[in-house]
Amino acid sequence: MKILVVGSGGREHTFAWKIGQSALVTEIIATPGNVGIAAEPKCRLAPVSSDNPTGLLKLASSEGVDLIVVGPEAPLVAGLSDLCRSAGLKVFGPSGNAALLEGSKVFAKNLLQKYGVPSPGYEVFDDFSQASRYLKRISGPIVVKADGLAAGKGVFVCRDKTEALSALTTIMQEKVFGDAGNRVIIEECLEGEEASFIAITDGKTVLPLASSQDHKPIFDGDMGPNTGGMGAYSPAPVVTPQLHERIMKEIMVPVVQALEKENAPYVGFLYAGLMIKDGKAQALEFNVRMGDPEAQPLLFRMKSDLVPLMIAAIEGSLIDKEIEWFPEDSVCVVMASHGYPGSYEKGKRITGIDEANAVEGVKVFHAGTGRGPDGYITTGGRVLGVTAKASGIGPAIERVYQATERIRWEGVHYRKDIGNKALNRC
Ligand code: AMP
Ligand code: GLY
Repeated sequence: MKILVVGSGGREHTFAWKIGQSALVTEIIATPGNVGIAAEPKCRLAPVSSDNPTGLLKLASSEGVDLIVVGPEAPLVAGLSDLCRSAGLKVFGPSGNAALLEGSKVFAKNLLQKYGVPSPGYEVFDDFSQASRYLKRISGPIVVKADGLAAGKGVFVCRDKTEALSALTTIMQEKVFGDAGNRVIIEECLEGEEASFIAITDGKTVLPLASSQDHKPIFDGDMGPNTGGMGAYSPAPVVTPQLHERIMKEIMVPVVQALEKENAPYVGFLYAGLMIKDGKAQALEFNVRMGDPEAQPLLFRMKSDLVPLMIAAIEGSLIDKEIEWFPEDSVCVVMASHGYPGSYEKGKRITGIDEANAVEGVKVFHAGTGRGPDGYITTGGRVLGVTAKASGIGPAIERVYQATERIRWEGVHYRKDIGNKALNRC
């Protein structure tokens, strides 16, 4: 099989690495991909942006690919799957209608409310004065969210109404996220521990992946602004077997059934961002794709071939499938550029990637790297996802940090506490 992987981050490098191990696969084209993907067996790059649906369709058709795997949310929300499916191509990723679950927080919240899925209370506003009048009446912490896609930056967890009013101004008046800020959600602020719950679905069967946990804030101890994710591990012991059952029954299955009832049947990875407290989970958000960096530890632990699972999701036969996992724990530490998640430096020379890859049980996935005259250079905010597997969370953490210590560039930043929440539960 010839497979097209759309995207260029750490998640897509992990897809290409995992898919390349399948005996069914002869060739992978990543578009636009990254230099880490280009170095994987069976892989080559094609220079089409993930924001160019017609260009991607043209590429997929002229290459005669057997399967298209879409990594990021933006092309899914823009309807890439629909376009390619109507041309007779096989696509792993939801339709534009179903992708609204991530593309519009208002759509997602209304769906959750209509179908009784546990999620924080909320109000929707499309008018700045009404929203600010509402905020002036509340006390205590509150969350303000831009409705549309905002590259993971549209959510403000505010300590009080002053912070909330400032978030509202940023979204609705300064229009920092453009039209994504035409509407806002003002939402009850929950406390607890977060986890990522990701499943593969064909629109009927929901096949859960192992549990995982991301670390969104930039600094140790969950301090500082939110990022796309600074590290992740799997499994996440906060998701006990009992809680896993409840999440499937109360959140994942109802959402997939709700989408089918709303004429938006879902095929692909479905990701619920959860807040967990006292053995109960509430849904904070849905993503219509695999998480990044959750992909790295999850696919590092996946023993099953991913390709037949994706094909079964497209063909509606997931009911016959199971997923096997390696028993080890896996941890990914994201190494980022100085300044990220704000404006960051680029073009710094990276050393030590080969030395890090040489640590037993370690793989370095590329996200924001390029080729300079003397080797790899930084080109993005999140640069590398150093991922390790070992038996037990403690040894996996030790291993991953042995590897990160070998990698250097000027201004490199990474969290030193990835996995500690799991360690504290041992
Ligand atoms: P989202 O993109 O909606 O997941 O929000 C990004 C991050 O904001 C989440 O991972 C949480 O850390 C935080 N967050 C979102 N909604 C809430 C909420 N209702 N209560 C507390 N924290 C939240
Ligand atoms: N790691 C969070 C996300 O992929 O949205």
